[in-house]
Amino acid sequence: MRKTKPNYGGTGWHVFVNLFFGVILVFATVFGVSLYHPLLTLLLLPSAYFILKAFKWKKGEILEEKLKVREEVIRVTKPKDGEKILDVGTGGGLLAIGFAKTIKDGEIVGIDVWLRLGGGTSIKNAEKNAEIEGVAGRVKFRRADVRSIPYPDNYFDVVVASFVIHIIRKDREKALKEMVRVLKPNGRFTIVEPPKEDWTGWSVDEKLKEKLERLGLKNVRFQPLTLSYPKKRNVYLVYGEKGFS
Ligand SMILES: C[S@@+](CC[C@H](N)C(=O)[O-])C[C@H]1O[C@@H](n2cnc3c(N)ncnc32)[C@H](O)[C@@H]1O
Repeated sequence: MRKTKPNYGGTGWHVFVNLFFGVILVFATVFGVSLYHPLLTLLLLPSAYFILKAFKWKKGEILEEKLKVREEVIRVTKPKDGEKILDVGTGGGLLAIGFAKTIKDGEIVGIDVWLRLGGGTSIKNAEKNAEIEGVAGRVKFRRADVRSIPYPDNYFDVVVASFVIHIIRKDREKALKEMVRVLKPNGRFTIVEPPKEDWTGWSVDEKLKEKLERLGLKNVRFQPLTLSYPKKRNVYLVYGEKGFS
């Protein structure tokens, strides 16, 4: 019998957006050329770019790549038996489930608001993945916003997030502040994010390092990780430990 694979979210949204712009530009070309000027044929170039990008996203072996991210986060955070671990914006439970598979006992929580356009995951989907991965009952999922984490100060040994912080545009600093707040002194913090995203104003740079240090982290460092979807690219693990205030 074929083993069911977990579903940690797809690339459907990226495929849709790129196809949408590609097709709109094809229509714009047809109308533009027939009504205005033959030079508008040039619009086919960006159209081809978007359509090609949609196919690249469709082809990507996303599960394999997500497992690679998870493995790296676990490697750098070095979880220990009995620790309390929080995965923020857990989606299908990718990191939370990975930690549950790695350590014995402890408290492992995944929180998310499960946005409709957030990769197509849900709390049910996360719970199903925990079952498939053999850790049901060892990881808890809760609906909560990272900008208001429902846990006391200094509670978790490890707080992580993958591909979450860069998409939060409103009160992003509050999200980071909350993640640091619930972390114990010397607790480990890791986020995985793209290097830069102009439309959300995100950037992994010296300013981010300064911001995280101001919020209470020490030894902040960036580590690149090469992924291959939708094309070969680097994302960054941003790692630090909470200092004593
Ligand atoms: C791209 S998905 C990443 C999911 C998962 N971390 C992974 O790597 O597979 C981003 C997730 O962040 C969640 N998210 C976005 N804004 C959030 C917020 N303010 N609080 C909690 N979760 C949020 C979305 O619902 C979505 O599940």
